[in-house]
Amino acid sequence: MKTRITDLFGIEHPIMQGGMHYVGLAELAAAVSNAGGVGIITGLTQRTPELLAAEIAKCREMTDKPFGVNLTFLPSLSTPDYPGYVKAIIDGGVKIVETAGNNPAKWLPGLKEAGVKVIHKCTSVRHALKAEAIGCDAVSVDGFECGGHPGEDDVPNFILLPRAAEELKIPFLASGGMADGRSLVAALALGADGMNMGTRFIATKEAPVHENVKQAILNASELDTRLVMRPLRNTERVLVNAGVERLLEKERTLGAALKFEDIVEEVAGVYPKVMTEGDMDVGAWSCGMVCGLIHDIPTCDELIRRIMSEAEGIIRGRLAGMLA
Ligand SMILES: Cc1cc2nc3c(=O)[nH]c(=O)nc-3n(C[C@H](O)[C@H](O)[C@H](O)COP(=O)(O)O)c2cc1C
Repeated sequence: MKTRITDLFGIEHPIMQGGMHYVGLAELAAAVSNAGGVGIITGLTQRTPELLAAEIAKCREMTDKPFGVNLTFLPSLSTPDYPGYVKAIIDGGVKIVETAGNNPAKWLPGLKEAGVKVIHKCTSVRHALKAEAIGCDAVSVDGFECGGHPGEDDVPNFILLPRAAEELKIPFLASGGMADGRSLVAALALGADGMNMGTRFIATKEAPVHENVKQAILNASELDTRLVMRPLRNTERVLVNAGVERLLEKERTLGAALKFEDIVEEVAGVYPKVMTEGDMDVGAWSCGMVCGLIHDIPTCDELIRRIMSEAEGIIRGRLAGMLA
């Protein structure tokens, strides 16, 4: 399939793996890129720029296809060494960066000068337009269904994607709730140039996470995610578990008086415990409603091949057949 996104990134299939804390390591990024999509290493999972440089080098050993790095600019307890991470990306010869969170304008000139294509992840049309105006090459539009941070507007993809298509000139990916060939065809029909997936890629053979995480996604239905940190205007969609129930109880009890310190136990330092140790009740980790559509653990290559052949079947068969 050829779209503006396959052209922009020089890839075979219009499918990207979004940055995921403690999931987007070299193994997964390389597997997605080898399967013809774009795999993404999550920059901040590497505690220092030197570790990110090593992860980039490791990924390059595992694939000769294009892959990227995610740089997330979100509120955190201490500010990461962003200049160091950007330098590691440029020195490592990475040509695709997925930015997310705050406006990436400050980092664009350096990245552009190094020939890096920047795709910014946004949860609203106004932020997507801002990304276009500051010179991003593409955007990834994350609907309310998405795992991670859906923003505060709560607009699902059936509205958000065609609205983005009405306004944007640059290519964009549909993100949030994407799982299969049906998602891809729908995304294209709504005006996107491809799709970005997070949660679906966790339940793959190559995702370097504890088996308990993959099983939890398989066992979950579309009713099993919760929104946490709404009172802090830092909403995150996560899989429900005992730690999340405890967090939500604190939110109910404290109401508008809630502060980050009140919930630090359920949100800080959770990822290594979940993703590496498989402790599934410890607290909040991102997961999309799309878990209801995930029923197996294929390799990334099997998954992407299946998506592409299903999409082709829908377009050439079901849809074309309806016109007859
Ligand atoms: C476990 C997990 C961790 C994530 N971590 C990040 C992150 O560190 N930075 C980021 O920009 N997005 C992060 N995301 C969001 C994904 O990149 C992607 O936008 C989102 O998962 C798409 O929605 P979906 O899960 O419905 O496919 C994360 C998502 C998940 C599921």
